[in-house]
Amino acid sequence: LAGAGNASGASSEIYTQGTQLVKQNGDPINLNSLQKGSAPEEHILALPQENGKPVKEKEATTLLLRYNQGDFEEPTNIDGTAQGYVAYSMVCTHAGCLVENHLNGYPQCPCHGSEYDATKGAQVVAGPASRPIPQLPIAVSQQGNVLVATGNFEGPVGTA
Ligand code: FES
Repeated sequence: LAGAGNASGASSEIYTQGTQLVKQNGDPINLNSLQKGSAPEEHILALPQENGKPVKEKEATTLLLRYNQGDFEEPTNIDGTAQGYVAYSMVCTHAGCLVENHLNGYPQCPCHGSEYDATKGAQVVAGPASRPIPQLPIAVSQQGNVLVATGNFEGPVGTA
């Protein structure tokens, strides 16, 4: 399948409604996977599951954090959060490094220090990035307590 060859790759719809989020080793992510907190110290690197396996593509890599549900403010898509869980692309919008969780609960990029406020739609609060990392809308699946996407990233991933 030779596509049109977009510069950012072929996976324009990495997540769709109902795509299950899993850990790198394929383990499911459920409501107990992270503790709630206003400055979460832990995060999960989540991937979409396809045909029973995690899709290990950089553009699919998702940072999953868990705040208290009341911590979220606009422009976060609060309908796209689930019981304190919020998900964003891990690909920094400055030059494409993978962001990490910082101890203050803000995703931070190790390359040039861009920092994003994950409770406010990942707005840039420090560093050279010029736009937020896109949010991935999520929900708790109706069949159990695993986390699923309800659509794709809400904006372009990476430096696009
Ligand atoms: Fe993230 Fe430069 S690549 S701050």
